[in-house]
Amino acid sequence: MKDKRVYIQEVATRDGFQNEAQFVDTDAKIALVDRLSACGYAKIEVTSFTSPKAIPALRDAEAVMHGIKRHEGVTYTVLVPNIRGAERALSCGVDEVNLVMSVSESHNRTNLRMSREQSFSQLRDVIGVVKQTKVAINVSLSTAMGCPMEGDIDQTEVLRWMERFAAEGVHGVTLCDTTGMAFPSQVCALCSDALAQFPELELTLHFHNTRGMALANTLAALGAGIDRFDASLGGLGGCPYAPGATGNVCTEELVHMLELDGYDTEVNLAELLSASGSLPRLIGHDVPSQLLKAGRRSDLHTMPCLSNDGLPEQRAFATGV
Ligand code: COA
Ligand code: ZN
Repeated sequence: MKDKRVYIQEVATRDGFQNEAQFVDTDAKIALVDRLSACGYAKIEVTSFTSPKAIPALRDAEAVMHGIKRHEGVTYTVLVPNIRGAERALSCGVDEVNLVMSVSESHNRTNLRMSREQSFSQLRDVIGVVKQTKVAINVSLSTAMGCPMEGDIDQTEVLRWMERFAAEGVHGVTLCDTTGMAFPSQVCALCSDALAQFPELELTLHFHNTRGMALANTLAALGAGIDRFDASLGGLGGCPYAPGATGNVCTEELVHMLELDGYDTEVNLAELLSASGSLPRLIGHDVPSQLLKAGRRSDLHTMPCLSNDGLPEQRAFATGV
């Protein structure tokens, strides 16, 4: 498994910021994307072209897309819910649009205010418009591994929606565990079947760490042959329309684990940790990242000074990053 390439796609400025109460200034968003662009990601989901009433935190999508400096080798993608969003995204010269709908009817109605069939029909129109350009098309299927309102989602239902979008000619599909309901054996079975059935699709897995299973699910997906993952700096994230939703798998924790296991992510972990350390100031609160608190496994700590009785003196230990 050594040196196997794994593609990391950053979603903090979309999935992360969409859920933040404190508005992150446009200039700060641009500066963060620029900083992340130098970290070695395969793809960055910069923002979303949704209704500013639905997602006020990302109401500055055009300004952000126009303000960032593009790095060669990084795909700049944006979330798009409808034709209006697609037109706005195309006017900014994005590399990819990431269309979204839910596999669960209830979540689709909550998140997008329409039935799945209505969503599909709208997204088919969007695909028709985008296909006339060189812009790539990815579809994110939310609640693909469980819905907080409907519970288990039948795997055949997920594959059926993949098939419908594959037939429309999209280049990629992301299977989203929107509320952290996935578990490893389920992930392994779904990923194996999806890869076998749709070898031509670029397949991404999108895990949330709501129940602490995101890294375990990542290992299960890797074992099934998946090589592309969404992740969020600091572990930010969460769907505003999913009760109890919390952050995505934390990028620095994912990269740290993959590096230890000999995978090649091309992502610079030191730069990531430094960028993650800047987040609390931007959003006004601590981030879930455990790696940011504990430091890397390889970070050594100075031994505490021992008093004559062999017990540590009352001094602060040196800590990691
Ligand atoms: N960009 C900007 N404005 C948009 C828009 C878009 N993509 N889509 C709709 N709007 C505006 C409309 O112009 C309208 O504005 P008005 O009230 O000033 O006339 C208003 O939003 C409502 O439009 P409507 O077509 O009735 O949409 P809706 O209220 O049913 O909302 C969505 C549908 C999907 C556009 C909206 O719910 C949305 O953007 N949701 C975000 C979903 C999301 O990102 N969730 C988290 C990620 S999974
Ligand atoms: Zn998500």
